[in-house]
Amino acid sequence: MVRIADCREADVAVLDVVLPSESVTANHEQRYARQRAGLGSYLVAWQDGRPVGTCEVRWDGCEAPEVRAAVGNCPEINGLFVWPASLRSQGIGTSFIRTAEARARERGVRHLGMGVRQDNVRAAALYWRLGYRHVISYVDRYTHLDAESVPQHKADSCTFMISTLDETA
Ligand SMILES: CC(C)(COP(=O)(O)OP(=O)(O)OC[C@H]1O[C@@H](n2cnc3c(N)ncnc32)[C@H](O)[C@@H]1OP(=O)(O)O)[C@@H](O)C(=O)NCCC(=O)NCCS
Repeated sequence: MVRIADCREADVAVLDVVLPSESVTANHEQRYARQRAGLGSYLVAWQDGRPVGTCEVRWDGCEAPEVRAAVGNCPEINGLFVWPASLRSQGIGTSFIRTAEARARERGVRHLGMGVRQDNVRAAALYWRLGYRHVISYVDRYTHLDAESVPQHKADSCTFMISTLDETA
């Protein structure tokens, strides 16, 4: 049984041990801080007392300028991740997305987007099945720490996909 809940302050240290993040600008602490500032909702999936995935809904939208030029600050699902890999394909990712959509409806948000790397064909297929459609191609620029904790700058070719949310679902 998997339960999805908002991240609490005490969860951050647990996430850092169980699901370490190499991101320089979007690690667990930074995502939790965004939640506290009202900029995001940081969702954590729990199974048997262990975190098994994370997903942030960024209410202020995608950072990439190309995406903002096309869709403004359309709220974005970001950092969707299920771990360990043996727990994938069991519906946790779908539950995250449906929970994000429910939160969006509660706020009166009618459109929700998410970026996916162009080589992540299986993830894009999942989002398509859930109603998300290609809007624009863009380059996602970010920095992560490698195994020696040296910052590495990355630029991934991505697609931004959007779903129009039913008011009633
Ligand atoms: C993408 C991801 C979040 C989906 O979560 P999930 O719990 O596996 O999703 P669900 O079980 O609800 O749906 C599974 C579907 O997701 C897709 N999928 C995408 N990446 C996958 C992966 N690495 N392994 C398994 N399924 C994957 C498949 O289409 C799969 O459908 P199938 O079960 O019919 O083969 C998860 O696989 C994951 O964490 N992948 C690695 C990180 C990643 O790619 N994140 C997405 C960034 S946009």
